[in-house]
Amino acid sequence: MIQTIRGQNLLSLDNVSREAIVEVLDTAESFVEVNRRSIKKVPALKGRVVASLFFEESTRTRLSFETAAKRLSADVLSLAVASSSVKKGESLRDTIATIDALGIDAVVMRHQSSGAALQVSRYVPHVHVINAGDGLHQHPTQGLLDAFTIRQVLAERMGASGVESGSELFHGLRILIVGDIRHSRVARSDIAAYVTLGAQVRVAAPGTLLPADIENWPVTVVDSFDEALEWADVVGLLRLQRERGSGSFVPSLGEFTQTFGLTVERAKKLRPSAIIMHPGPMNRGVEIDSRVADLPEAVIERQVANGVPIRMAVLYLTVAGSKEEVVS
Ligand code: CP
Repeated sequence: MIQTIRGQNLLSLDNVSREAIVEVLDTAESFVEVNRRSIKKVPALKGRVVASLFFEESTRTRLSFETAAKRLSADVLSLAVASSSVKKGESLRDTIATIDALGIDAVVMRHQSSGAALQVSRYVPHVHVINAGDGLHQHPTQGLLDAFTIRQVLAERMGASGVESGSELFHGLRILIVGDIRHSRVARSDIAAYVTLGAQVRVAAPGTLLPADIENWPVTVVDSFDEALEWADVVGLLRLQRERGSGSFVPSLGEFTQTFGLTVERAKKLRPSAIIMHPGPMNRGVEIDSRVADLPEAVIERQVANGVPIRMAVLYLTVAGSKEEVVS
């Protein structure tokens, strides 16, 4: 069990302790303030080099990691995979060795293969590797930013004292995750973070979109999505991942929406205080009705915004490492 991510890699949330998660969330809190300044920059990673390697498409993760690194004053090497020698057949090992030869301190990597980030951490053990999403496996910074967003919303509702009670806010919190659990690295990281922080998690999905080993997950599978809506303090929708063939796991998109989409009618069954989340990108009209996505209870844009302080915290803690280095 990892007790702190200081000076480490961040490959998964499965083996990260509650203390380590809270340390990231608390560090991100200090970076929220930096992001509100007119000059949004601190020298914490001045002179360090962060390589941004996205072998799979991304909008929010890539942009927020690169923004985070720049706000920490790191230099960013961003590989445009589509116009790189990867397209000529260069292996992952040689690609990483080439980038490492330029002198880097950290790699932020998204890859379509589960385990790719772990593999890279073995190729370059002297470099901090941060997994920005690997296949179906993990998306740890998404799990952290989703937990951060829930904590922030609950703390705001409680006033300043809520911020102080911090992650105690998760104890007994009822979180429902709905949709394509089988193909979702976000679900795997969210569940790890939420359960470690003390929440109860239920999942709702067509049987074909549940992973084969779901009975080993620390969640309850619900029979009725509609009844679970009344139970939930937080409902997290997942994208139907058509690029991973999810479309063939349901009879039709219309039927999926009818049974597991958060429609306007279903949203009315939620508690008035329920928080609606989606990691994006959304299939509006499939897993979430467009009008529901735009409700004030939906915190989807706040999730995106929180990607920057969370990724600043992760880069700062992993790369700067030592407790002596401070944010200034
Ligand atoms: N949530 C998420 O990972 O979005 P991107 O694919 O746009 O990075």
